[in-house]
Amino acid sequence: MSFSFNPSTFWGGHAHFRHYREVTGKVFDWRITRRLLQYLAPYKLKMAEGVLLMLVSSGLALLAPYLIKRMIDNYIASKDVVGLGWMALLILGAYGLDFVVAWRRRLVLNTVGNNVLRTMRGQLFRKYQELTPSYFDQHSVGSLISRLLSDVGIINELLSFGIITMMSDFVLLLSIGTVMFLLNAKLAALTLAVLPPMALATALFGARAREAYRRTREKVSALTGRLAEDINAMRIIQAFAEEERTSREFDQVNRENRDANVHAVALASTFTPVMEILSTLATCIILWFGGRAVISGELTLGLIVAFLSYTARLFQPVLDLSMLFNTWQAAMAGGERVLEVLSIEPEIKDAPNAIELPSVKGHIVFDHVYFHYTPDTPVLEDINFEIAPGETVALVGPTGAGKSTIAKLLTRFYEVSEGAIYVDGIDIRQVTLASLRRQLGVVPQEPFLFQGTIAYNIAFGRPDASMEEIIQAAKAANAHDFIMRLPDGYDTEVLEGSTNLSLGQRQLICLARVILAAPRILILDEATSSVDLRTEGLIQDALEQLMAGRTSLVIAHRLATVQRASRILVIDHGRIVEQGSHEELLARNGLYAHLYRAQFLTAEPTPA
Ligand SMILES: Nc1ncnc2c1ncn2[C@@H]1O[C@H](COP(=O)(O)OP(=O)(O)OP(=O)(O)O)[C@@H](O)[C@H]1O
Ligand SMILES: [Mg+2]
Repeated sequence: MSFSFNPSTFWGGHAHFRHYREVTGKVFDWRITRRLLQYLAPYKLKMAEGVLLMLVSSGLALLAPYLIKRMIDNYIASKDVVGLGWMALLILGAYGLDFVVAWRRRLVLNTVGNNVLRTMRGQLFRKYQELTPSYFDQHSVGSLISRLLSDVGIINELLSFGIITMMSDFVLLLSIGTVMFLLNAKLAALTLAVLPPMALATALFGARAREAYRRTREKVSALTGRLAEDINAMRIIQAFAEEERTSREFDQVNRENRDANVHAVALASTFTPVMEILSTLATCIILWFGGRAVISGELTLGLIVAFLSYTARLFQPVLDLSMLFNTWQAAMAGGERVLEVLSIEPEIKDAPNAIELPSVKGHIVFDHVYFHYTPDTPVLEDINFEIAPGETVALVGPTGAGKSTIAKLLTRFYEVSEGAIYVDGIDIRQVTLASLRRQLGVVPQEPFLFQGTIAYNIAFGRPDASMEEIIQAAKAANAHDFIMRLPDGYDTEVLEGSTNLSLGQRQLICLARVILAAPRILILDEATSSVDLRTEGLIQDALEQLMAGRTSLVIAHRLATVQRASRILVIDHGRIVEQGSHEELLARNGLYAHLYRAQFLTAEPTPA
């Protein structure tokens, strides 16, 4: 007899796409199980159908060998051809029904499984969107993705198939054992004597195999991680002509992955023959003891055939159960990770009594603001400033001084550690995040475009905008001309990483996006990278239009922007060290004058 043994499905679990981390959690955790089972609640009816179909299958599995026994012992023995024909038809019918039931069961469970999968993924994605930037600072993209894909996948495998297969295996084991004992206790006891060694072999092997497959998953994870990094870094690797060394490093990970797999397969390939030998032993026991009993007239031939047939069905459940053990364990670990994310309370969320921020004039106050990302490393200290409605204030200062951080506090991506920020006199912690952010337009330091058309990207903040409005915004951002020169104009697809657009072009599109959203308050984090003079001029013109009549906080790297600002705040080591107009600050001959001479004067010509 042969077993369907597919280690990669059971122990490895599609090792090539699952980024497993350690599966060492508790084998069974009732709290996790109960919460996971709740996902099945909406599908009670379907799960009941699954259980029913499972019972029918098990019943049929019991029935068929019994019918064969009857056929041999009654109808063949008494040469009843008509009865024999009916029996053959009945057996055919039983197998036919089994086929239909199995088909239906797979369909039902798959439907439930995919629905649960969708629900869980949807919940996780929503949760990701609620989480604050600080969460993403601390968790790798890889781990967040693997929760959504592989953890959820294995949980679903357990919920939809695992539980019912486990039930069906137990039912089968018990009922086949019972039927065998009812048919002939002595032969049953002899046959089932192979079960304990089989269980032992499975247990011994199972522990090693789990360890081996866990290692392969780790190695696959390492391999993909390494690959992702190398692909991203390909240009740098090539530029430094370090292909040889990175190949060697890659080869190391690659070799470890191979070794882990070979080891796992070696284990699996010794296990299968052991199981085969034990089941062959059971067959021989039946044939030897049973055969002699038939000769001596104690037992019937049909009984022997039925026993052989039952035995064949007995070992698959044993195998299944040992394999399901791992699915269960992995699902517990995955479940723990998924539920953990789902139960995170976002660090920054609407206060219980948060109000909608009414349409603002754009008056901003930073009142004794302190901030740190990690305790013990203050990033901002005692920041105080005020921006009048419509005013443009520039933040200037050395790299790492805390300028972008000030912008992030105003958008409430991070919460002030001490002090308060007011917009039109209202503490921003008292209003809903959405109503605050809708009135803020942010052009971040690194322009980000989504995959999708250029029109889609411009309209991101106002999806209902008409094509005309989109074009108008692009014109205002001085992006229209270059967009029209692209092969598909506004329908040009932005590739992953926006590789088909230059940095300057990306900035113009981001500007157009903010222009279209028409916020009351602008937060611009100018990129440090220099664009060509013409684009520079275009961006300046666009900014001019954008800032007219709006409150603007500009982190300025460009002289033109700095000079246009009514006030300049000079930030150094998280403090405001100087403030005033361009001329005043130059006259002071402090940090600003120093920065100005070192950076602006040499890097950029004074605009006419
Ligand atoms: N997410 C973060 N987690 C921890 N520390 C951070 C984080 N972001 C910034 N920092 C630290 O906070 C300080 C201020 O960073 P910030 O990005 O505000 O500087 P910046 O003035 O905008 O500099 P640049 O001109 O280079 O953009 C830096 O020392 C930086 O290392
Ligand atoms: Mg910055």
